[in-house]
Amino acid sequence: MDDLVKDLVEVCAIRDLQPGQTKIVNVRNRSIGVFNVHGEYFALANLCPHAGGPLCKGQVTGTSMADAPYSISWHRSGEIVRCPWHSWEFDIRTGKTLTEPTRSVRTFKTVLKDGRVYIETGASR
Ligand code: FES
Repeated sequence: MDDLVKDLVEVCAIRDLQPGQTKIVNVRNRSIGVFNVHGEYFALANLCPHAGGPLCKGQVTGTSMADAPYSISWHRSGEIVRCPWHSWEFDIRTGKTLTEPTRSVRTFKTVLKDGRVYIETGASR
């Protein structure tokens, strides 16, 4: 087993995590949510930086944004997770909040290998 493989933790088969789905796994006493966002895989700590809520159990959704005065429209469908405790919204791709831009949740790199999804736990994405 090479050094790269040692840092990888298996999540599931790629076919078992379809676009829009989330899988929560426990890795070394840490809960991590793995998301399939339009065919790309991302992993976030399941711990909201606001007040410690189970962020990754939240709804995967989009967000409404103001395009112009008196004009709001829906954007980024499937790219946002909304914390179930107080509804802060997070960009699944970056871990940054839309609600409070100075705050973010820890991210982990994902790796696809031999038909399976892995999390690289030693490094942030
Ligand atoms: S704990 Fe997540 S928004 Fe408050």
